[in-house]
Amino acid sequence: MSKKTQFASRIGLIAATVGSAVGLGNVWRFPAEVQEGGGAAFLLIYIGCVILLGIPVMLSEFALGRAGHSDAIGALKNVGASKRWWVVGGIAILASYLILSFYMVVAGWTLEYLVQSVTGGLFEPVAGEAGLNSHFTAKMEEYVTTDWPPLIFTFLMIFINLGILLGGVQKGIERMSNIMMPLFFLVLVVFVVVALSLPDAGAGLSFFLRPDFSKITGSTIVSALGQAFFSLSLGMGILITYSAYFSSKVPLVRTAVTVSLLDLLVAIMMGLVIFPAITSFGLDGETIRGASLVFVTLPEVFTHMGMPQLWSILFFFLLAVAALTSTISIAEVSVAFIIDRFHTSRIKACLIVSLPLLPISAVCSLSMGLWSDFTILGMNVFDFLDNFATNILLPVGSILLCIFLGWFAPRNLMYDQLSNHGTIRSRLIPAVIWIVKYLAPVLIAVVLVSTFL
Ligand code: PHE
Repeated sequence: MSKKTQFASRIGLIAATVGSAVGLGNVWRFPAEVQEGGGAAFLLIYIGCVILLGIPVMLSEFALGRAGHSDAIGALKNVGASKRWWVVGGIAILASYLILSFYMVVAGWTLEYLVQSVTGGLFEPVAGEAGLNSHFTAKMEEYVTTDWPPLIFTFLMIFINLGILLGGVQKGIERMSNIMMPLFFLVLVVFVVVALSLPDAGAGLSFFLRPDFSKITGSTIVSALGQAFFSLSLGMGILITYSAYFSSKVPLVRTAVTVSLLDLLVAIMMGLVIFPAITSFGLDGETIRGASLVFVTLPEVFTHMGMPQLWSILFFFLLAVAALTSTISIAEVSVAFIIDRFHTSRIKACLIVSLPLLPISAVCSLSMGLWSDFTILGMNVFDFLDNFATNILLPVGSILLCIFLGWFAPRNLMYDQLSNHGTIRSRLIPAVIWIVKYLAPVLIAVVLVSTFL
């Protein structure tokens, strides 16, 4: 993307930003977090985090990105930040890279599931299946923890990602997102209807929607906050990088609200599919948890619809695309950074970003199987990277960004950007500026510190 390119239309811009936001975070990570966090209570805190902190932090990234018109570090420099502040961009780039390395592994699984759906392998019996709770639990076991197949699919995903990055992301991303995101949405609506009409859907629904506040602990709140930032693609410089391509007429507040609510909607729809399905199929949370949740329950749902194989192909195709629109946006942070800072060609920058991902993602992938005994702070490498980057780096990066914009950036930067230089008037603008200046840094810091106590 050259500096002068801009998104061709407002719809395209929203589709690309939603494309970055909506991905495995909503479909795979969100239900797992809800399950760990005790259901509806987590959901409520999550919604609070999105509205109170997510939207304002998104707006700070938009404002900085459009004003700074460069990569995550260059933008800070262009708005006159002293060198010390570049660390904010640095944290963003580090976080984005770590997240990319485990995200690619899950993206690889989606591709593996797509291929297995096309060949029909997903629905064929597995040896030794009888002892397990379900057919698809055994399949998941086979696909994810055997050493080579998931690794190969992860590598494939890295190369597809590289291909798109190389071939002019601008048109690629915008055009692909315009078509795929609405289709993804429509397919989800069908799944919600099917899941809600399953027998015993009610019990799952009440787990997801009826809060039990006794379940809330400090770590629930930290996870909800981390999940909100992860899902909205915040704290990693992505939106700083993308908004450099926004025209000066784009209404930022309305865009941020639209993107965040669509992202939230997709997450909630996933919850409405997964939790009724779990109770309905008797897949109690003890046998399938976390990472495998979606990959087991969704295929179960498909078997309750006509033509399960067709649905499975359609869904995993769209999920792989949704994952790609996210991985591309994450990788673009580092690519833009390398091009702008080191004045390299786009091809070189894409290679510099993509090639080291091969060994790093390989370690993540193997940590699910062969190397699962190797742990850091009691977690395998995959979970450690996820928790460290998502629950710590993203919030820390966001606090620093808010402090910079609230206290150290040129005085009117936020206001000028949010109001398009005074042409948009809205009561939300001063409220957002106040949150960015006072509430967000304090609240995020309190949540973070509480994890260490
Ligand atoms: N927001 C994306 C998702 O929910 C993931 C992502 C994280 C994308 C960080 C970009 C940056 O899947």
